[in-house]
Parts: sequence; structure tokens; C-alpha cells
Amino acid sequence: MQWWEKKGNLEVKGNRLFLCGIACAELARAYGTPLYAINADRVIENFQSAKKAFSACANRDVRVHFALKANSNLFLLKLLQKEGAWVDAVSPNEVRMALLAGFPKEKILFTGTSVSNNDLKELAELGVTVNVDSFSQLRRFAALRPENKNISIRWNPGVGAGHHGHVITAGKFIKFGVPEKKILNAFSEAKKLGLNVIGLHQHIGSGWLGKDVNAFLATVGKTLLIARKAEKILGKPLEFVDFGGGPGIRYKKEQKDFPLNAYAKGICNKMKKSKLGAAIAIEPGRFIVGDSTVLLTEVNTVEEKNVPILGVDSGFNSLIRPSFYGAYHEIVNCNNVHSRKTKKVLVAGNLCESGDAFNQPKEKLRALPETKEGDVLAILCAGAYGYSMASTYNLRGRPAEAIVQKGRHFLATEREKFYDLIALHKKQ
Ligand code: LLP
Repeated sequence: MQWWEKKGNLEVKGNRLFLCGIACAELARAYGTPLYAINADRVIENFQSAKKAFSACANRDVRVHFALKANSNLFLLKLLQKEGAWVDAVSPNEVRMALLAGFPKEKILFTGTSVSNNDLKELAELGVTVNVDSFSQLRRFAALRPENKNISIRWNPGVGAGHHGHVITAGKFIKFGVPEKKILNAFSEAKKLGLNVIGLHQHIGSGWLGKDVNAFLATVGKTLLIARKAEKILGKPLEFVDFGGGPGIRYKKEQKDFPLNAYAKGICNKMKKSKLGAAIAIEPGRFIVGDSTVLLTEVNTVEEKNVPILGVDSGFNSLIRPSFYGAYHEIVNCNNVHSRKTKKVLVAGNLCESGDAFNQPKEKLRALPETKEGDVLAILCAGAYGYSMASTYNLRGRPAEAIVQKGRHFLATEREKFYDLIALHKKQ
């Protein structure tokens, strides 16, 4: 049994890979490659497991905001909306996407940084709650006299965590949030400006696991102390305290699953001790969608160059995580999952850069079972920051997305074609 096998999600039957009961090679045949194949049932299961972990310990409302930046597939958003999710949005267009999926504006919290006046104007018009991350944003937003005066404030609790330096979002040299020495002033300033502060927010980084969960829980304690002080300054209780996203997932064998119950219990207990009446909010992205999806890509070149190459029909325009963060993703041959005979290869993408490979750069080569031209590879755990970070570099259109749900499958997003790529160019 492979470490990543999970009943109802990824399973191996007769050496072939199945997602939600459908053979991955069949999905590749039906929709072409590269293809993001998304198990919608798994997304719901992950979302419900997060809710359940909190309902087992919380003596108050818990809001699970889905971080739309991880995956903005419209079908998934509609499903999550029906399941009772809230939303974390980072741009006016993410807000619009959430509205399109049926989320009421009351359930959308906007958290941005370096937010422009144009964005603020659009947000005021859209009427969502803005989670402010600087004094500048506070003043510029108040000057617009928005109809919805409810805001929350993001602070930087001084300690961050994450799988890579690019995604650690709290600490000393960090652009996000109001720093500790100024945070109490932010509440009085907001009050003076006539805004109604209803929440306090932190987000320390993304993709933390193991010991980092304790570092996260220590910041929860600090945030709750600030929340108490904020209530005194504001002269009223806060509606919510938002601990952001960040729960990691297992990308490789040596890692452990995220300790969901310890995380939820840690937050619940600290909340109880704080004597605050506020709701708990969290903003997971990766945890909800990460392991639900595989990127399917066909091998077109098997050749001994200076290194043994498996050339595939996809590149970092489809999934940038290995190239950008050195992130590890398991790679599986859909019709030859395990064999005793393996070979160390470079899984090379089709873009014009040597950093374009699906191996982790530092591992150089990956041991894979024997693979032939025409085989389909599945790159696992591609549901978070996969399609949502895809680009059209080299004028390669973004992949198609197919949903697999309850044993059936359908196309959810068309493959981007030449016509789509030139649609914005003006004819001269
Ligand atoms: N809330 C805020 C304010 C955030 O900035 C983020 C992610 C989240 C929630 C959700 O974090 P999650 O639960 O997914 O860790 N592209 C990177 C991750 C960037 C995360 C950015 N912010 C990656 O592929 O690892």
C-alpha cells in the first residue's frame, strides 16, 4: 500500500491509479492532458473534517473560511458554499467569484495587502468586510465612507511559519499586517475614523506541520491578549477572531498528517480561557483542496541525454510549486504504479527553462517505475495553488479541469486555447 492511498480518494487497483473510483488514465483519455482531475467528494470530506474537529471542542460559532486563492474552481466553490463555508478573498475579482458561486457578501472577508484605491472603491461597492492590514489602508478606506463600515484588522504577531520563506507571513521582515508596537493604536484610529471594528486577524504563513503547530498556537495566545485589549479600546466585544490559514498537508512519505484535532483543541481551549465571546474563524486553503487533485500529464519523450529524461506535455505554467518553492510532489505512473524495477529520471516539462521539471530541484532525479512514451503520469496533491497559480508562459494555455464526484466525471474548465490567449490583444 502506498502512503498516499486513501479509500474514496486515490487508490491502486491492479497496479493502476484511480481517483474517486475512476482510472486516471481514463480521465486523461477523456479530456486530454495536461488535466487537473479534482475529486470533489474529497474536498467536501476535508471541509467537513475541519468543521467536525471544531464542533467537538468549541463552545461558540466557528467560521471556516475557504481561502479561494488556493483553488477558485467555480464548481468547488458552489459545493463549499452549500456546505456552509465562508470565504477568504484577496482581490476584488476573488470577491466577485465568491458572489458568483452564491456566497452571500456577509460571508466574505477580504484580506489584501498593498491595496490600491481602486480596489478599495470596488470593495466598498461590493459591500464585503475588509480586513485592513495597514494604517494607510484604514485611512483610505474610511475616506470612501463605505456603506458597510464593518472592518477587521490584521496584525503581525511577530512569529511566522511555513513550508518555504516565500510563504511565511508574520515576523520581523514581513510586509503583512500591523506590527505589535502599533496594533492598539490601529483600533483607536479606526474608531476615530468612524469604522466599526468587528474582528482581529492573524495569518502567520502557509503549509505548516509538526512542531510549527505549537509555534502557531503560541501566536493564538498572543492574538487573544490583543483581542482583549482591543475590546477595551473599542468599548464593545469583537464579533470574531480569525487565526488565518496555514494547516499543512502531507506531500511526502516522511511527513505526518496535519494534527487537526490538536490544532482545533488548542484554539478552542485558548479561546475558552480568554473569556472572549467572539466566534472562531479560520481560513484554510491547502488543507481543504490539496490532496483532492492530481495533475495528469502525458510522457512524450523517453531518452538518455546527459541524464535520463522523461519529457512530459506540461510545465511550470501548469504547476509552478516544484520550480518556485522547490516543493516536493509525488509522481505516479497511472498504469504502472509500482514495480520492483525503478529508474532515476528527470521529469522534464515542456517550457524553455532548465528549472522546468517536476522533480524537486534539490533531489535532481526521481526513482520511477519503468515508463514508456504515451504513459500518463499523475502529479499528486496538486489541488492547492496548482491551477490557481497557472500561467500562459510560452503561450501554453492553462490545463483543463475535470471534476470527479460520486464515481462520475465531467469537464469543469475548458483547456485554454490559442483564441483565448489572443482575445485581449487589440487588432492594430
Ligand atoms: N489566509 C490568508 C490571509 C492567506 O494569505 C492565505 C494564503 C491563506 C489564508 C490560506 O493559506 P493555506 O491554508 O492555504 O496555507 N502558493 C503557496 C502558498 C501561498 C499562501 C498564500 N496565502 C504554495 O503553493 O505553497
